[in-house]
Amino acid sequence: MTRYRKQDPELTRRRFINAAMGTTATVGIVSLVGVLGTANPVFRLTRDKMPPVEGDILVHAAASQEGDPIKISELSDQLVRAWPMGKDKEGNNLIRKGDPNNVLAIFRFPAGKIIAPTNIEATINGEIVAYSDVCTHAGCSVADDDQTAGQMKCPCHSGQYDPKRGCMVVGGPPPRALAQLPIKQQDDNLVVGGFFLENPYPFTEAEWEARKEAVKAQLA
Ligand code: FES
Repeated sequence: MTRYRKQDPELTRRRFINAAMGTTATVGIVSLVGVLGTANPVFRLTRDKMPPVEGDILVHAAASQEGDPIKISELSDQLVRAWPMGKDKEGNNLIRKGDPNNVLAIFRFPAGKIIAPTNIEATINGEIVAYSDVCTHAGCSVADDDQTAGQMKCPCHSGQYDPKRGCMVVGGPPPRALAQLPIKQQDDNLVVGGFFLENPYPFTEAEWEARKEAVKAQLA
């Protein structure tokens, strides 16, 4: 089912503030702050909204298997959608699906098929690779309707990515590749090796750097 992603409320609020400050020089700051205070709640970076964090286990996102750890032995060039699962403050398992932009796409290709510009060190044995599943054009879920093995074609405006080549754009309007997520093997499970290597949608580079620092500070 095709759907548009909601913007991160913190980023949306920040962009609104920037736009408003640039065009409303004659509007009193006090009244602007008053409007913002009631128009958008303060964003809280709770653990369920954090992006994938090192050590998270990747679990199925499909409703029929949601929460089940993805097994390496079950993977193929057929895309599997995943959530990152970390821990809450009490140490209980917590799927980070409070932010819909955390949905991931996992592929396994035969050895030698994954090539540059994929970061091979961030894959498992050069065979298993993970990306953000959120289109860099306008935030649709790329994999929603695409069941074609080895391909990622966005249903919204026909953007196409090549998961064997770093999910680079090979068609349509997306401005840049899907962000790659470093992964590692732990027994038969997939574990997150670190933050996304590039800024995932909807973050700018600066916003992504700030988000990483906020996550690190909160988990320290
Ligand atoms: S949102 Fe994916 S191509 Fe437009």
